[in-house]
Amino acid sequence: MTFKYADRINRLPPYLFAEIEKNIKEKKAQGVDLISLSIGDPDLPPPPFIIKSLMSEAANPNNHNYSFSQGEPEFRTAVTGWYKRRFNVDLAQDQVVALLGSKEGIANVARAFINPGDRVLVPDPSYPVYANGSTILCDGTVVLMPLWEENGFQPEFDAVEDDKAKMMFLNYPNNPTAAAVDKKFLKKAVDFAKDHDIILCYDNAYSEVTYDGYRAPSILEVEGAFDVAIEFQSLSKTFNMTGDRIGFAVGNKQLVSGLAKVKSQIDSGPPIYTQKVAVKALETYTGKEAPEFVQQNNRILQERRDLLVENLCKIGYKCEKPKATFYVWLNCKGDSMKFAAKLLDVGVAVTPGIGFGNCGEGYARITFTQSKERIIEACNRIGSITGLF
Ligand SMILES: Cc1ncc(COP(=O)(O)O)c(C=O)c1O
Repeated sequence: MTFKYADRINRLPPYLFAEIEKNIKEKKAQGVDLISLSIGDPDLPPPPFIIKSLMSEAANPNNHNYSFSQGEPEFRTAVTGWYKRRFNVDLAQDQVVALLGSKEGIANVARAFINPGDRVLVPDPSYPVYANGSTILCDGTVVLMPLWEENGFQPEFDAVEDDKAKMMFLNYPNNPTAAAVDKKFLKKAVDFAKDHDIILCYDNAYSEVTYDGYRAPSILEVEGAFDVAIEFQSLSKTFNMTGDRIGFAVGNKQLVSGLAKVKSQIDSGPPIYTQKVAVKALETYTGKEAPEFVQQNNRILQERRDLLVENLCKIGYKCEKPKATFYVWLNCKGDSMKFAAKLLDVGVAVTPGIGFGNCGEGYARITFTQSKERIIEACNRIGSITGLF
């Protein structure tokens, strides 16, 4: 028996990474020593206090009931305290909703506000969930905003011709381009959203993964943001907890409660024990400076970043050290699928830029979530390829 998928599933774009993934599997099966610089998942462990707290909270039988679907009051209080200390932003408890990772909230926010055919502004290239998991799976229409290198990978709001968009996604520090922005840009974004009655969904999942003294702002620091914006945050990258699935959304009360309403019909909030661990993690921020664990994590990533960029430059690529995220967005000077396939031949997996949108063509995303030794080895292998663009 075969079943017909709903039309919205058929509208999802073909999965461009499928071919690369198949080749990676084949290489591994052949016993190739594969260096994976393709996944946005930290290789470093969470801090020991998180593991310890997870074990003790999970061992408590009282932590295995349903959570409040919007999140435990204790968790939401910890989030409001973190926003105050980290960004000097005031939030009330009803301006916070707990998420099963920020991806879940990004996907579900459209369910609350997007009707079939509603138009959603999505950066190109971008994290694929904005277009696919969020917009297309809600029968919305994706309107792409190109991000060009010469504009610092920021969209040109003046060039957006669609004045009927209902929602817009923005993400800085950015995946995949690693671009970082200042509050001046965020103010432009908020003004644009306000002028056109657009819901501004700001993905700030990488706000804590920063280098060289750069501190990523929250959109909620900007005047007027509370009128239009909801911000998505996550413990995934800050505390190396990608698999624990804990994040939150904050901001405009109506946007937060719309998302919470959808979620109350779909899930019952993250496990209570995970929320309790998250409380401890957020409380390690005693002021606006990151705690020692986060700083140390970033120092390790920064050393790897430097090694990767310096070695890629030696090979002949032009690339700069990103101020945030753990990605290098490499201008690979040609077809990104072919580039990734050539690297795979020498046992190095990277992500072809086209997988993040047509404007990602000509780039490859290289992740520095591997040890320094593996990064050096990967660069040696890349350098050994003859006939690369
Ligand atoms: C830009 C961006 N936003 C959100 C996420 C989702 O993170 P999580 O669902 O683990 O919070 C990711 C994950 O890679 C990401 O790159």
